[in-house]
Amino acid sequence: MPVSHEVGNRISWTLRPKVSEKIDVQELAKYKAKGMEVPADFQTWEMRRKNMQNVCLQCHTKNYVTSFYTQYDNEVNLYNDKFGKPALKLINLLRANNLITPVQFDEQIEWTYFYLWHHEGRRARMGASMMGPDYTQWHGNFEVADNFYMEFIPDVKEIIHEAKIHGKASQARVVEKELNKILNSEMHKWFLGKLDPEELKKRKEAAKAFRERYSESK
Ligand code: HEC
Repeated sequence: MPVSHEVGNRISWTLRPKVSEKIDVQELAKYKAKGMEVPADFQTWEMRRKNMQNVCLQCHTKNYVTSFYTQYDNEVNLYNDKFGKPALKLINLLRANNLITPVQFDEQIEWTYFYLWHHEGRRARMGASMMGPDYTQWHGNFEVADNFYMEFIPDVKEIIHEAKIHGKASQARVVEKELNKILNSEMHKWFLGKLDPEELKKRKEAAKAFRERYSESK
């Protein structure tokens, strides 16, 4: 690859926003909004990734590099789908229904949400991009989940409750409907104790096998 000082040249995801997207999405949207042709030398995220992988392949085998990207994509998608998108949706609904003020950071849930995507969610995603398992898991996924289930969701519930007793029941119900939809979805229904017995059994067996494999006595 030619030498470059443009560090974004070979980046495929952007990990900065509340919900990650591929690096070229916004640029392409700009061309479209202005009715402009995409320049012939425009680098799609696929091209950027291929160039990056060319660099990795100077030192690593193909399987190693492909496996890294599989794990990386899976982590970003997991964060996005399980936490990033649902939390953003709920915050937007709260604001659209006047259940939080337009002023940023004057309410607890706005701080909770900021930690979720800006601190914990970014650590999880960046940890995966830089092969930092502790950052992905313990400073990342674990804290994202802790925040989401133990702070963010309770904050949303409290706002719904307050709204109902202060004459905003119809607005509260809009948010409640979405919250219930999220919690009853495939990824979150365990939290309501609704995991399929088959799935629960499979997970218990996997946990047992894992403990046996790594037990000290072996
Ligand atoms: C100049 C050679 C070189 C290039 C280019 C390179 N690596 Fe590495 N990589 C290494 C070496 C050497 C190690 C082992 C470092 C160590 O163990 O201290 C390593 C380690 C790793 C690890 C393991 C980290 C860990 O903690 O176990 C991963 C994953 C990895 N590289 C992925 C990549 C990816 C993806 C790229 C391209 C974006 C890349 N590498 C580019 C030389 C390279």
